[in-house]
Amino acid sequence: MTGLIRVSKDLRFSLANARISYLFQVSPEGILEHLYFGQNIGSESQLPAMPRRSFRGATNEFEGIAHYNLSDIGQEYPLFGRSDARHPALHLINADGNTTNTLLYQSYTISKQKPPLKGLPSARGGDSETLLVTLVDKVSQLHVVLSYTVYQHHDVVCRSVEIFNDGEKPVVLDHALSSSLDLPAGDYDLLHLRGSWAREFDAQRMKLPAGTFSISSASGASSNHHNPFIAVMQAGTGEQHGRVIGAALMYSGNFAITVEQGEFGPVRMSLGINPFNFSWQLPPGESFVCPEALLTFSPLGLEGMSHNWHRFVREYISPTQFNNESRPSYLNSWEAAYFDLNEELVLQLAEQARSIGLQMLVVDDGWFAGRHNDRSSLGDWFSDKQKFPNGIQATAAKVKQKGLKFGLWMEPEMVSPDSDLYRAHPDWIIQVPGRTLSTGRNQLVLDLSRNEVVEYLFKRIDDILCGGDIDYIKWDMNRTMTEIGSTHLPSHQQLETAHRYILGVYQLLSRITSKYPDVLFENCASGGSRFDLGMLRYMSQGWVSDMSEPVGRLAIINGASYLFPLSVMASYIGPVPSHQNGRLVSLKMRSEVGFFCAARGLSLNSGDIDKDQQALVEIIKFYNATADDVVSGVYRRLQFGENEVCWQLSSADGKRIYVGYFHILSEPNLPFRRAYLRGLDAQARYQLVDSDQAYSGDALMYMGIDLPYVHAIQQQGTDYMDQGDFSSHLMTLIRVDGE
Ligand code: GLA
Repeated sequence: MTGLIRVSKDLRFSLANARISYLFQVSPEGILEHLYFGQNIGSESQLPAMPRRSFRGATNEFEGIAHYNLSDIGQEYPLFGRSDARHPALHLINADGNTTNTLLYQSYTISKQKPPLKGLPSARGGDSETLLVTLVDKVSQLHVVLSYTVYQHHDVVCRSVEIFNDGEKPVVLDHALSSSLDLPAGDYDLLHLRGSWAREFDAQRMKLPAGTFSISSASGASSNHHNPFIAVMQAGTGEQHGRVIGAALMYSGNFAITVEQGEFGPVRMSLGINPFNFSWQLPPGESFVCPEALLTFSPLGLEGMSHNWHRFVREYISPTQFNNESRPSYLNSWEAAYFDLNEELVLQLAEQARSIGLQMLVVDDGWFAGRHNDRSSLGDWFSDKQKFPNGIQATAAKVKQKGLKFGLWMEPEMVSPDSDLYRAHPDWIIQVPGRTLSTGRNQLVLDLSRNEVVEYLFKRIDDILCGGDIDYIKWDMNRTMTEIGSTHLPSHQQLETAHRYILGVYQLLSRITSKYPDVLFENCASGGSRFDLGMLRYMSQGWVSDMSEPVGRLAIINGASYLFPLSVMASYIGPVPSHQNGRLVSLKMRSEVGFFCAARGLSLNSGDIDKDQQALVEIIKFYNATADDVVSGVYRRLQFGENEVCWQLSSADGKRIYVGYFHILSEPNLPFRRAYLRGLDAQARYQLVDSDQAYSGDALMYMGIDLPYVHAIQQQGTDYMDQGDFSSHLMTLIRVDGE
């Protein structure tokens, strides 16, 4: 592979593969001017649209250069206060107190190796080339290295930034963003994911407003309020048409994404660590590394963008140990028993799990010393001797003798005030002295900006994993930060706490996951409150939401799928009435919505498993048989409406097509619906399983397949859905032409 990055003699940079181009150039003044990000442009030497230097009324001219007004110029890493008053990528207080800086081009290098980021997760390299561009401010004595990676087979550009203080006094960073992208004036729509507990990833689509639109988090985690992801697209873009730029930050702490329409119409999209409540002392001779930002482009609408992300996350972000592995089906003890656990019950659940074909038993919260409710014991990661007299490892060994894998829940970053750990180390928490601390779920946040806390946690987790009987860890994090500060840091560094905390989390995760690469880690934060590409770099899957009720889950999976592949999503069949919203939904619908996640299982008590034993055997057989297809398959959002949802999953080889149709409330005399399948082989034939019907690929795509009709009035003998409200149908089509 050669030539993904080209640089002309007059310093025009082209980062391109066969499908996309990212172009910028050095202006005569030395400013790095952004030119273009979009569909591939074969030659960057004769571009029809270039930055213009034209007279405009009442504008400032950079360093007095005629008509060169930076607020009208696309820039790769813009700064404030030198004729551009828009949102800057970098804003810092120089040693002499002012905030005026200018970064001018100095040099570049190209490498076939993508260097890892110091202390932060980043995408793997592989079929890529990386360009490092150095920009310098001689007056302020600092330099910045911008890094760009472009891939041969993936339409993703990774960007990161390292800022160096070359002076003799500290400077204070207050905006240190990872990426800024200037788009031409035009009509754009935005799509982002907002939410709250149990209703995460709620996709919001809107017209780009005049002014500034931003999403962010400020409470220490990427959060369920907004996900560090946005799509900026040509107005009117659909699932399969329209130019879309997607951006995501590989970061699990406070982030901000801002989309600003400047006074002349161009649009600036920037992303990075949230500048609010952040500042960083950068001592002389040291550098600051910004988290990695990922940008993707698709001319094929939102589905095209999602497919770019899905392939990339699977190949270059998910841990390699499991990225192409089917995930074990499991029974999780949480909604089955909550804190009421003991060895006898765990072994009974394991026996039942085995008898219905499940592959793993997961002991959730409640197994460690003194943990009988959510008011105590976080931090005391030792087995509760009354519940597990010989320790949880001994129970794990017994579960494994039954031929099952064994999984365990932990919440390492937290501590209960009522715990031995807190009593021994009251200073080990995020806090502001003199303030009565707010609690969340009765717990406090350990101060992972301190090395000794990271060290302590590493040792505890290591002790639990070193016996070798634990195959899976569900790593939870159930509250965000308040009273944000560290007693370990001096006063002028208090606003570094939240970022230093995340660096501590990453250090801990990186050490644990590299020592135990064969342990499957699942990321959880009260469901999806820290579900981001940073955590997914260490953990193969994530608990998308505590909402296990399927109607509530439809919007969550649909929204999450804009960025995340099904391979990183976990689900389970929960009890009825639902513990989250009280709804009564059939086992069929619970299992069929749950189908659209790679990690599948149940969280039902012994009685419920016995009651539905036969049906569960069939469901788990189907889950196990299709597990590979969900990890590596191609997922499509065929329809998402308030009352009807239809999804398609095609196996990687295109031989099996699954179509899920979910109808929420029934009404009399509804229209007959069809689904227009996508991505089939037009010439091939597909047999509908459990019927004698076969259809041609072109007919399924262009004419559509009839969806089951939902009757409001139940009639005897109908072969349609089993109930009017909350009905569900999963069809499987198998390619039968022998290819
Ligand atoms: C969080 C998780 C749940 C469960 C509980 C245990 O709420 O999201 O799945 O593990 O913690 O306390």
